[in-house]
Amino acid sequence: MDAFSYREGKLFCEDVPAEELVAQFGTPLYVYSRALIVERYREFRKAFAAVDPLMAYSVKANGNLSVLRLLADEGSGADIVSGGELQRARLAGIGPERIVFSGVGKTVTELAAALDAGIYGFNVESEGELRQLAALGEATGLPAPVALRVNPDVQSPTPHRYTRTGHHDTKFGIPIDEARRLYRAAAQMPGLRLRGIDFHIGSQILETRPYVVALSRVLELVADLRREGIELEYIDVGGGFGIPYDDDEGLDAAAFASALLPLLHESGLRVVVEPGRYIVGPAGVLLTRVLYVKQLAKTFVITDAGMNDLLRPSHYASYHRVAPAELHPERESLKVDVVGPICESGDFLALDRVVERVREGELLVISTTGAYGFSMASTYNARPRPAEVLVEGRTSRLVRRRETLDDLVRGELDLLRPSFVPAGGGDDVGPPGPG
Ligand SMILES: Cc1ncc(COP(=O)(O)O)c(C=O)c1O
Repeated sequence: MDAFSYREGKLFCEDVPAEELVAQFGTPLYVYSRALIVERYREFRKAFAAVDPLMAYSVKANGNLSVLRLLADEGSGADIVSGGELQRARLAGIGPERIVFSGVGKTVTELAAALDAGIYGFNVESEGELRQLAALGEATGLPAPVALRVNPDVQSPTPHRYTRTGHHDTKFGIPIDEARRLYRAAAQMPGLRLRGIDFHIGSQILETRPYVVALSRVLELVADLRREGIELEYIDVGGGFGIPYDDDEGLDAAAFASALLPLLHESGLRVVVEPGRYIVGPAGVLLTRVLYVKQLAKTFVITDAGMNDLLRPSHYASYHRVAPAELHPERESLKVDVVGPICESGDFLALDRVVERVREGELLVISTTGAYGFSMASTYNARPRPAEVLVEGRTSRLVRRRETLDDLVRGELDLLRPSFVPAGGGDDVGPPGPG
């Protein structure tokens, strides 16, 4: 479906004009299409239906509670990487038996919380973590359900090296031979319940071959373990399924599925998938106002959204389409840098991009920002994070209010206040203050 389309030259999200949204909620503004999120989720699930996978949506892509709730209602589980994401998934109503926990640096507190919640599996990334879980399992009497995240040593062709996680010199996963040794060791640890095996080779992958190579290597290990009497229940193939950011063709879920299904079938294991970007990426845009147009050696279009609102262009040199929310095809186009207000030369949304000559005050749309948009936003330069809106047909719902300046200082003021107003002249040593 075309969730974002121009009608008589004006951008709409589903049936709501972009101008109406910003009039109500301001800019910068993340806008999500409910219908497209649901469509992408169903399309992915349908592609893999032959193995009836556990859909563990990767919360880091977009962890808004309303987005999670929407996916929970569709039956989704969650792939989480922190205690905070566990809390989000649980608040959204995702059952613990549908949650897997990934990540190289889980703290004891996070492990304990997830064990207590009764999650489906820990995707363990090191021997230290394995031993930590074994100790927790013994201490609590709740054997920890574990899978080892294996590093299959494949080069995944992602657009940036920061999003490659499946080759031997990254911090992620456990090399296959080491995993073999650890499975044997884990099988002897009473605090553990060996449950699965996992890999995740990177993000924004537009080829099926790296998945097939990785899966084949991991299934060889599964077969070896089986011969030794170590039986596993699930295989988690991670996420990373790419989407089109420009007009180039992405792969659809069916293409990934048809490459992987024969091997998955043969394994006889329960299948877990962790798509994030594929589901929410195309379903979101960022709306931003042009503050100034500055003509120097280049033309700079300065917007009210910066790298704190959308980090991907400066962090990964990633491409997002940029266009005015109201088209005027009679205008000439010119090459500009679209930059934010942050005090960093690396603060940009698009470089050397040909766009219609826009005026100050105009609204721009930054496309395909539903994944790793708001979830990577920060308050750098003491800028409140943007609002998020979910559109459904003709209606729009604020699903995260814009942060306020007060939100930014609340945690500090709370600490200062007792010393500002000493209760009964106590022996506060904080800085002096009003009152
Ligand atoms: C372990 C794991 N699973 C799943 C994902 C989701 O990736 P994507 O959003 O590209 O599908 C990531 C992303 O970094 C990840 O690290």
